[in-house]
Amino acid sequence: MSAKVTNEADAAGMREAGRLAASVLEMIGEYVQPGVSTDYLNDICHRFIVDELDCIPAPLNYRNSPSAPPFPRSICTSVNHVVCHGIPSDKKTLKTGDCLNIDVTVIKDGYHGDTSKMYFAGKPRVLAERLARVTQECLYRGIEAVRAGATLGDIGHAIQSHAEANHFSVVREFCGHGIGKVFHDEPQVLHYGRRGSGLTLEEGMTFTIEPMINAGSRHIKMLPDQWTVVTKDHKLSAQWEHTILVTGQGADVLTQRSEESF
Ligand code: MF3
Ligand code: CO
Ligand code: CO
Repeated sequence: MSAKVTNEADAAGMREAGRLAASVLEMIGEYVQPGVSTDYLNDICHRFIVDELDCIPAPLNYRNSPSAPPFPRSICTSVNHVVCHGIPSDKKTLKTGDCLNIDVTVIKDGYHGDTSKMYFAGKPRVLAERLARVTQECLYRGIEAVRAGATLGDIGHAIQSHAEANHFSVVREFCGHGIGKVFHDEPQVLHYGRRGSGLTLEEGMTFTIEPMINAGSRHIKMLPDQWTVVTKDHKLSAQWEHTILVTGQGADVLTQRSEESF
């Protein structure tokens, strides 16, 4: 398969990988508390993914370019102004009011399930809560735009218009992606765009939608570790991600959690 499911075995494999990835996000929630380090959260997720789920954590030693260093942990933890690809560290201890994205990708029988959500350590500030909520709404509006016959531009437009109506901005340098036996496959799923533009969706396609939305300007900066992406203005950023399968009627959300209904 590329990022297109054409038989029942591939569909079942992607459903299972998605379900297992979602279970990691459900498991880790109670551990997100002031005083814990992001490396502690990584260790718990790593053990759960390997020992309980019998899966491979896809980020560990992952390279997105031959010249860059491999990712050194099993999950991404992106705190406050970190946009994405935050590296868990025993030096990074959560403080009351911190918000963070935990991004999990598992491989089961060769199939990838990729999903992320926002968490808060203690009680969040009003802006952090609003940014996280609007970003989740952006993901949901993107998912609602999915059906065979719609276009990638329809997804991007749905996300961008909701973010900007709330005076937030859309990160452009990172996007959703086709996913299947390959972690990051074609197509690129942009989180901005024009209705009706871009690739037409077909039944059986599997890809992620993972909007990164900033409280301030959309501009970002890469840290010298060559992974951590932060907002240029150091204002807050939020992200939510699901892996979806295109159906005739709409989207099957493969990484749906029990707290969600689609
Ligand atoms: N899970 C991320 C995504 O949504 C990719 C993380 S790559 C890593 O595509 F190496 F940083 F883990
Ligand atoms: Co992804
Ligand atoms: Co991800």
